[in-house]
Amino acid sequence: MKLWGGRFIDKESKLMEDFNSSLSFDKRLYYEDIIGSIAHVKMLSKCSILTNDESITIVNGLNSILSDIQEGKLIIEGDYEDIHSFMEIQLTKLVGDVGKKLHTARSRNDQVAVDMRLYSKRKAGEVIDNLDDILNTIIKLGNDNAFIMPGYTHMQRAQVVTFKQHIMAYYNMLSRDKKRLLSASEIMDENPLGCCALAGTTYDTDRGFTTTELGFKKPVDNFMDGVSDRDYLLELLSGFSIIMMHLSRLSEEFILWSTKEFDFIEISDQFSTGSSIMPQKRNPDAAELIRGKTGRVYGDLMGLLTTMKGIPLAYNKDMQEDKEPFFDAVDTVLSCIKVMNEMLRSLKVKKDNMRAAVKRGFLNATEAADYLVKNGMAFRDAHAVIGTIVIHCEKKHTAIEDLTLVELKGFSELFNEDVYEFIDYENTLSRGIKKEM
Ligand code: ARG
Repeated sequence: MKLWGGRFIDKESKLMEDFNSSLSFDKRLYYEDIIGSIAHVKMLSKCSILTNDESITIVNGLNSILSDIQEGKLIIEGDYEDIHSFMEIQLTKLVGDVGKKLHTARSRNDQVAVDMRLYSKRKAGEVIDNLDDILNTIIKLGNDNAFIMPGYTHMQRAQVVTFKQHIMAYYNMLSRDKKRLLSASEIMDENPLGCCALAGTTYDTDRGFTTTELGFKKPVDNFMDGVSDRDYLLELLSGFSIIMMHLSRLSEEFILWSTKEFDFIEISDQFSTGSSIMPQKRNPDAAELIRGKTGRVYGDLMGLLTTMKGIPLAYNKDMQEDKEPFFDAVDTVLSCIKVMNEMLRSLKVKKDNMRAAVKRGFLNATEAADYLVKNGMAFRDAHAVIGTIVIHCEKKHTAIEDLTLVELKGFSELFNEDVYEFIDYENTLSRGIKKEM
């Protein structure tokens, strides 16, 4: 069932019909399609292009289709080209010939553009709400676990940090992600309805009216751009990709930290899985899946960037390919944030193991050098002296703070009794962290 056909003599090939149809995936735009149509019809009546009665009949028809879909009485399926064709044909079945007036002064090009803007704006809001939830979880997890742990560079123990400091780094990453989505939502907040196919319409329409009805900030400035702009999807996909990159880095740390080699955390049973052969296994599948799904969201972004790169103005059917990657990415990012949030809420941090690891990594070597500098040595010389002490300690399987003062003085006369307090892990930590807050 089609909205066009008048100028064709032969029937469309079944192969082409199936190839062309987007209903199986664009059916998820049904809500936005209906509210977009309602705003359009109200505008047509306000501008005396439709009569008040016609507009009431159409609006009531559209509202009844909406409730039938929501109540499961009307299933979106069949051999329709897309959600827009499905709606118009359903409407005409329901209200009769007046339904055929719905598409006056409109094209599917501006219709699909407005549907996608409304849908993606709503979904961006949902992602932002979920980011708010995980941000709150991170603050609580950090405050409950402000214990010392080794901080790493090059995956080698470097200096003392706290678990709170470490996890709050992710708070900062995800806060920037939220700002990115807010900014994309702000930039996309323009109404393309009224651009029609590409050149507007000869009817005296009111784009300001539909803009207010649909809650956009302003109408788009240029019709050809309005129907063919998909930048907002790319911006959101890029924002989603960066969120996934952040969640993937955190997942990677959790996977490492939950190994017996690290043993810094325990991921709860709720978010772990077992092995079908090895009875002892507890696998961090949730974290691995988040890490894995990151590639898929990057793929969605790359796919749409590539689709868009060669398209001349204005609308071309290539653009129908914007939907599946966007839908896939938004579903994926939402489920990953939710799973990560719950995994964080049920995470056990192993305070004692982290503290023991701090003791084993010369994490106060930098501060020991700073101590010698404080007592008059140049930093480069102090660096060399402490390096020699580290070799000595490695041979003796001991730590800098466990050497006696006599032993230390053997390396430099500048060591005194107060060195032990200076290189104490908690003290070095609090002196360093003070500048961060
Ligand atoms: N299903 C189409 C899409 O998603 C709707 C617009 C079709 N417009 C057209 N002139 N064929 O892009």
